[in-house]
Amino acid sequence: MIRSVGVKITGIGRYVPQLTAANADYERIVDTSDEWITQRTGIKTRHISDGEPTYYLGLRAAQEAVADAGIEVSDIGLIIATTCTPDYYTPSTACLIQRGLGDSDCPAIDINCACSGFVYAVDMARRYLACGDIKRVLVVAAEELSKFVDYTDRSTCILFGDAAAAVVLEKSDDTLYSSFLAADGSGARFLAARALLTENPFRQHDSEFDMDMPVPNKHYLLQDGKEVYKFATKALPKAVENACKKADITPDELDAVIPHQANVRIIETAAKHLGLSMDKMILNISDYGNTSSASIPNAFYDAVKSGRIKRGDKVCFVGFGGGLTYGACVLEF
Ligand code: ACO
Repeated sequence: MIRSVGVKITGIGRYVPQLTAANADYERIVDTSDEWITQRTGIKTRHISDGEPTYYLGLRAAQEAVADAGIEVSDIGLIIATTCTPDYYTPSTACLIQRGLGDSDCPAIDINCACSGFVYAVDMARRYLACGDIKRVLVVAAEELSKFVDYTDRSTCILFGDAAAAVVLEKSDDTLYSSFLAADGSGARFLAARALLTENPFRQHDSEFDMDMPVPNKHYLLQDGKEVYKFATKALPKAVENACKKADITPDELDAVIPHQANVRIIETAAKHLGLSMDKMILNISDYGNTSSASIPNAFYDAVKSGRIKRGDKVCFVGFGGGLTYGACVLEF
């Protein structure tokens, strides 16, 4: 096992809206069934925003993580928010969370790597911490997929929920840490939600750009489920294997793998490829659905609180999603 400069997770937090939507609720709005959703995805229910904005979910999760770490807000040296469902183009979600936390003037940035956001953010935090001038990083993953979901499209609306989860990270010398991050922009068209089009008064031409991207209905999320499924079942094991290889350990030496919670079948297939039993895979998708970048820290939160993951365990966070992006981090909790 290779030891290097890594991170320790000193605080965790989570917040989800109170409102829930179970499979039976979707039976009333689209042509679907609890049986289809359960068999194809493993999802039973999700938490859905009742008007709370994305940043608010993130703020509540961040407040818990800061309290759990036993620090003051002023001790945080950097806030990284990860979201593909922000409330504003500007200000960033990180700045809105900072506003809510108060007593902070540290740098605050958003990153958007869809469902891989948490893994990318942890790795980015580790690189800032390794430089030494920043002592603590607050990573907050906050998502409201309910904003982007077309509730008339049964193939996507049943998948997604809203959640936020946060961690406080500090530098840890001589520890287990490795990461593998990747992206494949050639698959951008398989998962897309469009932002604003230019409507300036000088425009003379119809756009001939992005002809390969899907034509969306408003800003709604469009997904080629089969292509994303194929990508995910390869990306997940590849990321875990590569991150383990860099740390000179094998996947079976991990105590837990915390994968992006997109679909139980994707996770089962990946576990098989990795030669791991499902006991190693942390799952909470049945209660939350796919909450994009919040899903990994949310599953981690439940596993820590239930005692399934303990201090000193070797864990692997692994994400995959829009971009297409994927990646994994291996570290000691
Ligand atoms: N209820 C009932 N039937 C449905 C539903 C539904 N909610 N949705 C689709 N169907 C139907 C289809 O119309 C199709 O009917 P047909 O055979 O008459 O044409 C049939 O079910 C099978 O559809 P498929 O799309 O082949 O179903 P599949 O088994 O592939 O499951 C799913 C679909 C669950 C979306 C799957 O493809 C999947 O999980 N893909 C990956 C999604 C994913 O991981 N996305 C997250 C990426 S993360 C991010 O960045 C946001």
